[in-house]
Amino acid sequence: MPVRVFITQPIPEPGPSIVAGCAERVEHNREDRVLPVEELRAKVEGCDAVLCLLTDRVDASVLEAAKGCRIFANMAVGYNNVDVAAATRLGIMVTNTPGVLTEATADLTWTLILGIARRVVEGDQEMRNGRFPGWGPLYMLGGDVTGRTLGLIGPGRIAVAVAERAVGFRMPILYTGRRPSPALDALGARMVPLDELLSSSDFVSLHTPLNAETRHLIDARALTLMKPTAYLINTARGPVVDEAALVDALRAGRIAGAGLDVYEDEPRMAPGLAECSNALLLPHLGSATHATRAAMSRMAAENLCAALRGQRPPNLVNPEV
Ligand code: DGY
Repeated sequence: MPVRVFITQPIPEPGPSIVAGCAERVEHNREDRVLPVEELRAKVEGCDAVLCLLTDRVDASVLEAAKGCRIFANMAVGYNNVDVAAATRLGIMVTNTPGVLTEATADLTWTLILGIARRVVEGDQEMRNGRFPGWGPLYMLGGDVTGRTLGLIGPGRIAVAVAERAVGFRMPILYTGRRPSPALDALGARMVPLDELLSSSDFVSLHTPLNAETRHLIDARALTLMKPTAYLINTARGPVVDEAALVDALRAGRIAGAGLDVYEDEPRMAPGLAECSNALLLPHLGSATHATRAAMSRMAAENLCAALRGQRPPNLVNPEV
């Protein structure tokens, strides 16, 4: 039987060429749309391997339709879109693409930190709309960054890369996590309980995976703990924040602003968010650079081909399979 692979969405090279080198029959969906679950189920049936994206909902029904498949190689570091427990039960390996998008995502986190504090997009709109009245001592004042306290929620690779950049801004750094992070400690960061981080930070930046523990970690209560002069930054996953509560907080000025790259129900936003001028809103661009997406594509394809060769894929998230 020829080895069959399905690639769920258009992806950049070199992933497709690498996959073509390890499978006889590759079907690549080149339509720029996310397949609804029913269509995805039909496409994965009889496949030996699937290369999927974070916008594909790989639930238990999709995995059951793919019974006998060896691997779902997710082209993302986050894999909350895949029901990993169901995959494990069905003997299907799941892989992700850690590491290769760390620097790009940290750069974008900093774009949001500087952009929201210094009102970059609002300023750009002033110029384009001919509203710049000339320099004024009270005109478009923002928040300081240098020397202010950065709070990192979740001490993973991306948080460390964000902290490395914060050293140049002479920022005291706080973090929360299950256990101390030697990498963050080496940068002078201090591990503190969540509530202390929320009440002491000028920038609260989210870097946790999405799971049952982190869903709505930043809710109305957490937002109330933040300083009225503080900013919330999210380049992790939208549902970590209760977006309706955030809109309330932004409207009421309970926090100074938010820089968001991810949303609770992408591609939609909570009602009212678009009208908040104290929010800087990007469309999930954390890893969106040419080189980063190529590296993610390569890594996902190499994971997939390793599984087809009967090897253990390097980035297996369910080793118990
Ligand atoms: C990921 O890989 O999880 C990122 O969100 C992609 O930008």
